[in-house]
Amino acid sequence: MDKDMKILLIGYGKMGKEVEAIALQRGHEVSGRITAAGSPLSGNDLQACDVAIEFTRPEAAVDNLLMCFKAGLPVVTGTTGWHERAGEVKTACQSMEGSLLYASNFSIGVNILFDINRRLAALMSGQSGYAATIEETHHEQKLDRPSGTAVSLANDILDVHHRYENWALAGTDLAGDTLPVTSHREGNVTGKHNVAYTSDIDRIEIRHEAFNRRGFATGAVLAAEWLQGKKGIFTMRDYMASLTHV
Ligand SMILES: NC(=O)c1ccc[n+]([C@@H]2O[C@H](COP(=O)([O-])OP(=O)(O)OC[C@H]3O[C@@H](n4cnc5c(N)ncnc54)[C@H](OP(=O)(O)O)[C@@H]3O)[C@@H](O)[C@H]2O)c1
Repeated sequence: MDKDMKILLIGYGKMGKEVEAIALQRGHEVSGRITAAGSPLSGNDLQACDVAIEFTRPEAAVDNLLMCFKAGLPVVTGTTGWHERAGEVKTACQSMEGSLLYASNFSIGVNILFDINRRLAALMSGQSGYAATIEETHHEQKLDRPSGTAVSLANDILDVHHRYENWALAGTDLAGDTLPVTSHREGNVTGKHNVAYTSDIDRIEIRHEAFNRRGFATGAVLAAEWLQGKKGIFTMRDYMASLTHV
């Protein structure tokens, strides 16, 4: 990190508060907080910040991102459930020369799981005896289903596994080329994901369990530090690639 940042928090719920704690620990300043009730901040206030970190709700995220592009403020968002509007966001970011980093999951551990998932899918693509499944469990307040992380895992499998053409929530009769994703909503579970390949003779499984939200918040702050001085659209994959040499 070259310098301390002035951070605008957009959304001050469970994640906004966790991001604030990590940002302060890392020597940054929180210069403003925008909540659902709005904020007295002007465009000039926004321009005085170095970066915005956005964790709100699926229906609020796109307007928040557009506001940041307009103000020339780099933005990191972890809100899930808005990706059907990704095309619109990408076009706006490009035309306004904005800086955006988004991720369905900022945890470094989950991003390692993503990498292993892609490699495993490539290996399993040649193994016709195995059927793939994805399962995720989250707390009962989570609005989207399946989780953005499960969707990322599924899409990464579709990209490389020749059998699967699409994914769908499990529960109904699914065609053989549809990858089933099971969602559970229970208690206070922060986030559990697993990908399994099951045959008549064995089962191969990779899994990640978050014990708390600290990993997401840390990843979001690290991503905001990395985004400084960059223009364009990035994901955690770009950040992770900057750390590894494999
Ligand atoms: N990418 C990741 O690593 C990751 C990790 C965890 C969670 N998430 C995602 O992050 C999002 C937030 O999660 P959370 O657990 O923090 O939820 P949360 O506790 O419900 O907090 C969301 C906050 O956003 C506020 N908000 C709603 N609309 C807003 C708007 N237009 N402008 C500013 N603030 C607004 C809400 O205010 P009110 O309470 O007043 O409505 C609430 O305080 C969800 O989409 C979740 O799936 C992502």
